[in-house]
Amino acid sequence: MYKPVRFIHISDTHLRDDPKAKMYGINVYDAAIKAVEAINKSTLPFDFVVHTGDVASVDGTQKEYELAAKIFDNIKVSMYYLTGNHDNASLMSRILKFGEKKDLSTDDSRLFYTFKFNRHNFLVLDAKTTKEEDPHGRLPPDQLDELDKILSQTQGYITIFNHYPTIPPDSIWLKKTMTILNAEDILKIFNKYSSKIVGVFSGHIHQGTILTKDGILYSSAGSTFVNFRNAPDDEDVIFLSNGVGYFNHVTVEKSSIEIKQYAFANGVSSFIKTREEMKYSL
Ligand SMILES: [Fe+2]
Repeated sequence: MYKPVRFIHISDTHLRDDPKAKMYGINVYDAAIKAVEAINKSTLPFDFVVHTGDVASVDGTQKEYELAAKIFDNIKVSMYYLTGNHDNASLMSRILKFGEKKDLSTDDSRLFYTFKFNRHNFLVLDAKTTKEEDPHGRLPPDQLDELDKILSQTQGYITIFNHYPTIPPDSIWLKKTMTILNAEDILKIFNKYSSKIVGVFSGHIHQGTILTKDGILYSSAGSTFVNFRNAPDDEDVIFLSNGVGYFNHVTVEKSSIEIKQYAFANGVSSFIKTREEMKYSL
């Protein structure tokens, strides 16, 4: 019998290697703990939790992932993680607990895999690129080839996860800095199989967004600790927080999808600041 799949989408926890460490004046460890508490207290039904990357900060260290494991082990369903531009996939694979999955890469520095729930197909991409291109992303050629193959062979529907949003968001600074450099190649493949794709989910831009293009739904989740304003005319980042972090609750039906955004108090005092002002509040 057909059953819907429900999952929690969180992103961009940016954990540091010291539980007392702050980023932009915010204790990221406490904010992630509050996210997990809010998810557990919500009594929402969900089959798994997906973290769309930037679990850690800078380049991802063993200690950062050990602290992440300590926090996310309090989630009683399967967890799935993506490589963000600040993450180290090899360490994540070794230290974090993943739900059942099928790896598509023999390269342990990539988190590229599929998994299934109630006959729904899920695909995780890893578009982390070189230091020179960061914080843009770029999907490597082997994943582009495999993406085409998987989508062509998929029976039924598929939901896709990638740290980086595929469609450039409506914001000058994001378009300048946070896109996928070969998004056109990905979109060509997505568009060939659009009738099979239920949704494409990302993080990276620290803001909850929903948009559709060519019949495909694209959604990002806000960060657990600090969000960006991302207004259309913003030429640089503006840090925006009213003391809340975010997670999304997603229901995937046979051929439809519903996204609800939830906010929780993350212990941050209210502020709106530019990059220049943030230098003085670190
Ligand atoms: Fe990121």
